[in-house]
Amino acid sequence: MKRIGVLTSGGDSPGMNAAIRAVVRSAIYYDMEIYGINRGYEGLIHGEINEMSVSSVSDILQRGGTILRTARSKAFMTEEGFNRALDMLENFEIEGLVVIGGDGSLKGGLELTKAGVTVIGLPGTIDNDLGYTDFTIGFDTAVNTVLSAIGNIRDTSSSHERSTIVEVMGRNCGDIALYAGVTGGAEAILIPEIPIDINAICRKIIQGINRGKLHSIIIRAEGISINSQDLADTITKRTGMETKVVVLGYTQRGGSPTARDRMLASRMGHKAVELLREDSRSRAVGIEGTEIVHYDLEEALQMKKVNDESFIQLANILSI
Ligand code: F6P
Repeated sequence: MKRIGVLTSGGDSPGMNAAIRAVVRSAIYYDMEIYGINRGYEGLIHGEINEMSVSSVSDILQRGGTILRTARSKAFMTEEGFNRALDMLENFEIEGLVVIGGDGSLKGGLELTKAGVTVIGLPGTIDNDLGYTDFTIGFDTAVNTVLSAIGNIRDTSSSHERSTIVEVMGRNCGDIALYAGVTGGAEAILIPEIPIDINAICRKIIQGINRGKLHSIIIRAEGISINSQDLADTITKRTGMETKVVVLGYTQRGGSPTARDRMLASRMGHKAVELLREDSRSRAVGIEGTEIVHYDLEEALQMKKVNDESFIQLANILSI
């Protein structure tokens, strides 16, 4: 392949820039022309496509967000929009496309594959909700952002002798909550994959109060059915300890990527270009253990995410 494109799509994640840089620099290293597509599939439809050079990606490795910007394109899901996207790829003679994004974005890539385009998917999402890879680009940074917030919340919660429900992102996946819960010493972790036992949470908080604990941290993943404020009201009523809610929201999506995310993004971005150089099959790039792996894009998207629920038990034991 001589001419390839790269785009970021869906919710941004820290490390997307590191991945773009790796794709651009690897392509140039291998004498390929590389085109950056702005605003994901939306920009593709509108022909927002520019050739990139070594210096287009200078000074971005450490920056959160994505220099290519991103969008959740509704137009791409229509027949007209999709066909325009295909026309643009043809007009610009782009032979292979690197798509950096989450589940929905890679599914968009799969549709292009079915229309004959070669797509390499890189998992760029803070959610860590893709079954074919142990980790996604941005997840580690998001967990560290949550940890830093938990540290601050702990200080004020213990001064005021309060419990705090910290609501984290992750759509239908509880990984941010699980990892931040264990590493942040949470008293309880609530994730969509497991039914909530409010009695057990209240018992634990009361036991803590009786032992002189000054605060409790409960991590709640956004995808669970009970709303944070209702949960806080119930806990306040049953335990007598005032309970506040902190929704961390988009703070988790920004910020300078951690070394782990930069490394993951750099390795995956480079691998994507190698795959396009060697072959013209569509693949999804992931990591298993320490090894960069790749699967057929369609198969990868069918793999089911398995959470390590033992983390909840671990957090319970370690926060007695
Ligand atoms: O998929 C990433 C994510 O940040 C989810 O954790 C969250 O539910 C969603 O995106 C928020 O999307 P938006 O940016 O469209 O509000």
